[in-house]
Amino acid sequence: MAFKRKKITVIGAGFVGSTCAHWAAAKELGDVVLLDINEGAAKGKSLDLYEAAPVEQFDAKVTGTADYKDIADSDVVIMTAGIPRKPGMSRDDLLSTNAKIMKEACEGIKKYAPNCVLIVVSNPLDAMAYVAKQVTGFPRERVLGMAGVLDTARFRAFISEELNVSVKDVQAIVLGGHGDTMVPMPRHCSVGGVPLMEMMEPAKLEALIQRTRAGGAEIVNLLKTGSAYYAPSASAVQMAEAILKDQNRILPCAVELNGEYGVKGFFVGVLCKLNGKGLDKVIELKLNDAEKAMLNNSVKAVEDLVGALKNIQY
Ligand code: LAC
Repeated sequence: MAFKRKKITVIGAGFVGSTCAHWAAAKELGDVVLLDINEGAAKGKSLDLYEAAPVEQFDAKVTGTADYKDIADSDVVIMTAGIPRKPGMSRDDLLSTNAKIMKEACEGIKKYAPNCVLIVVSNPLDAMAYVAKQVTGFPRERVLGMAGVLDTARFRAFISEELNVSVKDVQAIVLGGHGDTMVPMPRHCSVGGVPLMEMMEPAKLEALIQRTRAGGAEIVNLLKTGSAYYAPSASAVQMAEAILKDQNRILPCAVELNGEYGVKGFFVGVLCKLNGKGLDKVIELKLNDAEKAMLNNSVKAVEDLVGALKNIQY
């Protein structure tokens, strides 16, 4: 049987999309297709990235296109299309513009890459993942939202900086929606296997939790013209790698819940096992009353956002 490389499509050649293509090619996860309605941007960035291959020594084709036909047979599609936030905007302010963009793109995915695992990155994340699932009709195993890996990455970065320990030894979990109501889970965080709560003063920990919750806005306020892209793209590509290499990784992702935590039909960030199927299973944690209350509050915010979608023509 002829060997066939994996194929990863990235929709949207903006900062997040082109940086996803960069990480995916550099890690040799497969051949990469970068699609954008701006054909020149997709082709130009792809060619530029491909010309880095001899220097960085990666064997991955990178091609740009504006034509959905070229995404045929993708194993994984990473969806980044949509406008980003500007200072003063919440992720939710992007709802109606990005819902329209999402719908159009997902129709192309459904037609040309009907067997892919779709990783949604566009904001507001939990609502865009919902739109993607409705439009594609894919089973829940194959529609994943990227938020938890990013939110926990920020939390881990802040913890490692504060304790002056390697980022590699910091484990953390964040549950809930990708917004101000996200639920960092300090009880489930550890440093070299030692519970974080034994290593950090409560006030310090609370400050890092707040910084994590506002982590996206912190970058938006610095950049002023857009939002974060290095950590978001690295996070999406880590999920793609778990799928493409059938790794059985345990990562927090937004998935459509089917009764877990008493929630059904909404995308909420939970701890997942990812492998070649996409979502293999949700790992449900035993929450205490305070954690339950915070998660319910976050779920309510997601429900309100999806409710607002119903009043939008998209
Ligand atoms: C952030 C955006 C990408 O959290 O949602 O930076």
